[in-house]
Amino acid sequence: MKYEASIEFAQRMDQEDPIRSYRDRFHFPQFNGEDILYFGGNSLGLMPKTSKAGVNEELDVWGKMGVTGQHDRWEAYHEQLTDSTARLVGAKPSEVVVMNALTVNLHLLLVSFYQPTTDRYKIVIEKGAFPSDQYAMESQIKFHGFDPKDALIELTPRNGEKCLRADDILETLRSEGESIATILIGGVNYYTGQAFDMKTITDVGHEVGAYVGFDLAHAAGNLKLDLHEWNVDFAAWCTYKYMNSGPGSPGGVFVHEKHGNWEGPRFAGWWGHDKETRFEMGPEFVPITGAEGWQVSNAPILSMACLRKSMDIFDEAGMDALRTKSEALTGYLEFLLNTMEDKVSIVTPFDSKERGCQLSVMIHENGKKVFEQLGERGVVCDWREPDVIRLAPAPLYNSYSDVYQAVEILRSLMD
Ligand SMILES: Cc1ncc(COP(=O)(O)O)c(C=O)c1O
Repeated sequence: MKYEASIEFAQRMDQEDPIRSYRDRFHFPQFNGEDILYFGGNSLGLMPKTSKAGVNEELDVWGKMGVTGQHDRWEAYHEQLTDSTARLVGAKPSEVVVMNALTVNLHLLLVSFYQPTTDRYKIVIEKGAFPSDQYAMESQIKFHGFDPKDALIELTPRNGEKCLRADDILETLRSEGESIATILIGGVNYYTGQAFDMKTITDVGHEVGAYVGFDLAHAAGNLKLDLHEWNVDFAAWCTYKYMNSGPGSPGGVFVHEKHGNWEGPRFAGWWGHDKETRFEMGPEFVPITGAEGWQVSNAPILSMACLRKSMDIFDEAGMDALRTKSEALTGYLEFLLNTMEDKVSIVTPFDSKERGCQLSVMIHENGKKVFEQLGERGVVCDWREPDVIRLAPAPLYNSYSDVYQAVEILRSLMD
């Protein structure tokens, strides 16, 4: 696409954007009486205007029905999310469930998919993975009596580079192969914005005999995913970033159908028990077939109500249209930032197949101050030590004009 660095061009792109109307479905924080320039969807997505009604519906049912609502409505409430969740991550309905929060789900999944032996006991993650993943992996390794210094393989970029090279990842998987029990990589790295080739990593992980899982916090609702076809063993994600379902909203889980009748280890709870006999309250755990068998507790209905409203929007817009716009929108941000390459450099890969919507931008001088001043001028983005600002134009609600204005503000600060 041929971009131009002008507000007229950005406005023209907005007029031609076939999914521009979705912006009106969201509440924007206000800044000087106008919509703020919001690029924080990689942390917390904006609030759909329907969220409140969704929560109120459930509060009304609670008020009117009390516990009767539990049996008539909420017991199967999470099932209303199944089809749209499956569509979003490229799964079969039996392979997904919404439950708990992301790190909790990673732990629950590792109980099943990390079964170390004396020969095969290592976990592979990216160096600089989100700290919660790092802590979770280390604590799992220690829980099984191994030493993270030996049992945690951290995929590390080459000297002087920020992103991992695909060949280096595969080379490590092959060379360490026989000792690897589990691979757990972020589908998109939270810091660099680099997206990984999940299919190839899964293929090579399986060749060497490991389980392969992904933390999709920065990928779900951002990239087109095809978890079933890629043959991924397991995955988990949060729904408060690109999926716009509000602070602390419940996480999503994928378990491939080949593990649906799982007989190995898992931490059980009554919500994973066969639905037909759950309320017989028998002593023996009979798991539901598929991902739902990993549920432990009953569902947080009020935050699921927000997710349900948000998923309606994804179903309507469709990931194909969202991803098409996303590539063009992030491409525009990249184009504009590249006009100031003496002052900033982009850490995120330039190939759109290797990134989602986020660009991580290294500020050459006074980065923290520039970030703070962006906030004072009505640009919401975030700062990651030591010198990176992350900007995530979300195709559902960001416009080309947002992108143009934000970069102009950045340019004026740096001038
Ligand atoms: C990549 C990644 N993993 C894990 C987490 C932790 O999520 P939670 O607090 O829902 O467990 C986050 C949170 O932002 C994240 O970005």
